[in-house]
Amino acid sequence: MTQPVLETVRAPGPLYREVADRIARLIEGGAFRVGGRVPSVRALRRSQRVSLATALQAYRVLEDRGLIEARPQSGFYVRLPPGRLPLEPEESQPPVRARPVALGDLVARFQQAARDPACVGLGTALVHPGLLPIRALHRTLAAVGRHSPQLANSYDVAPGSLALRVQIARRAFASGCTLAPEDLIVTNGCQEALQLCLRAVARAGDTIGIESPTYFGLLQSLETLGLRACQLPTRAREGLCLEGLEARLDRCRIKAVLLMPNFGNPLGACLPDAKKQKLVRLLAARGVPLIEDDIYGELAFAPARPYTAKAYDRDGLVLLCSSFSKTLAPGYRIGWVAPGRYRHQVTRLKYLSSIGTASVLQLAVADFLAHGGFDHHLRRLRRACAEQVARTTDAVACHFPAGTKVTRPAGGYILWVQLPPHVDAVALFERAWAERISIAPGPLFAADGGFRNYLRLNCGLPWSDQVERAIARLGQLTAKRL
Ligand SMILES: Cc1ncc(COP(=O)(O)O)c(C=O)c1O
Repeated sequence: MTQPVLETVRAPGPLYREVADRIARLIEGGAFRVGGRVPSVRALRRSQRVSLATALQAYRVLEDRGLIEARPQSGFYVRLPPGRLPLEPEESQPPVRARPVALGDLVARFQQAARDPACVGLGTALVHPGLLPIRALHRTLAAVGRHSPQLANSYDVAPGSLALRVQIARRAFASGCTLAPEDLIVTNGCQEALQLCLRAVARAGDTIGIESPTYFGLLQSLETLGLRACQLPTRAREGLCLEGLEARLDRCRIKAVLLMPNFGNPLGACLPDAKKQKLVRLLAARGVPLIEDDIYGELAFAPARPYTAKAYDRDGLVLLCSSFSKTLAPGYRIGWVAPGRYRHQVTRLKYLSSIGTASVLQLAVADFLAHGGFDHHLRRLRRACAEQVARTTDAVACHFPAGTKVTRPAGGYILWVQLPPHVDAVALFERAWAERISIAPGPLFAADGGFRNYLRLNCGLPWSDQVERAIARLGQLTAKRL
């Protein structure tokens, strides 16, 4: 069939709008699918015999209508119309009473599935290695080993490499913190940093305030240390509900609070900076320390990253923890903590726990931060995460049953999905694993087996037919009565 030539068969109205209307009709009719690419600007220009400016303007109109989106260096893609985006999960309402943590063997089972190389990895919160500068980092590591072979024969005891702490202090400036290298201690990943902080501020039997839902690694730390959890209510967009915290501070004897204010796991929520300031004041007024996990803070989709709560700390009561596991190389196990007034305790505990952190790895990361183009890499990673989160959201909206709700994170690469009430996410996890798809079921993220009909999806994999098929299959399984 020949296309009408728009320059000759013209209806009234600007030409770019006519072109836009025709593409909109194709999108509405399903000829261009959600998540798929529309013709490039040049292809549109050729096929419709219009100027480049007209083709571009037509796409701008469609962008304004929310029908397509531009993806840097990739083209224009069909978006889910704004009205069809799923709702966000409801505010969590955990019980007010503190309780011991009992995760059972679900974590071990989840990790088995997550490590299964045959699975499409929607379970573990990890980005695809192709999105990390692994080769360049390994080259740096080899050079460090060649130039300083003596490093293999020494202990780099806590607080760790000065060169690395200088780089971390520089980077922390963008998160609103003024830290000196001596304020920092290098750790084996963020997990060790969090454990050391918990041990510095609390004893077995004490109660720690945590977000509900929260990362299962934190729950495991509480369980191992014999700490009780006071679960705090959260909202999908902003995370911690400050009123909920205030009410519990008055009723439970909370010894410390452990939060992920920037794109936390699994909510991906971001507490506005003004509320972080309020939070820090609220806790400082009661002398309650705040352990802050900022592991996803550098992965904001906006050009500037949000501040940390630590930026507002005037009393040394915020213990800021992070690592390079989400941005550079989880296998290097390089993390850090700025423990404020608990510096001596945390340094001592770090020494007792593991003496120090592998020196060659510390120096390789320090060198990469100084000369390896880390910011350039981060910009690319953040763009990729934003795109993968958008496409996964659209795919969930297309393939999951009515009533499914999804978070809309502004950073990081995980989605928290609320399924219809009849769905048992643990049964879904087992069924999906049998079909070689790994997911993280909701009860992993609660101290008490809650979030039965929720799951966390990893968006760290580049979009592919395989990923889309896996999400479509999860949608079908969810629609069945499991
Ligand atoms: C919120 C959060 N904190 C801490 C960790 C552990 O970090 P690391 O691998 O640096 O020990 C993770 C890992 O997934 C995480 O998601």
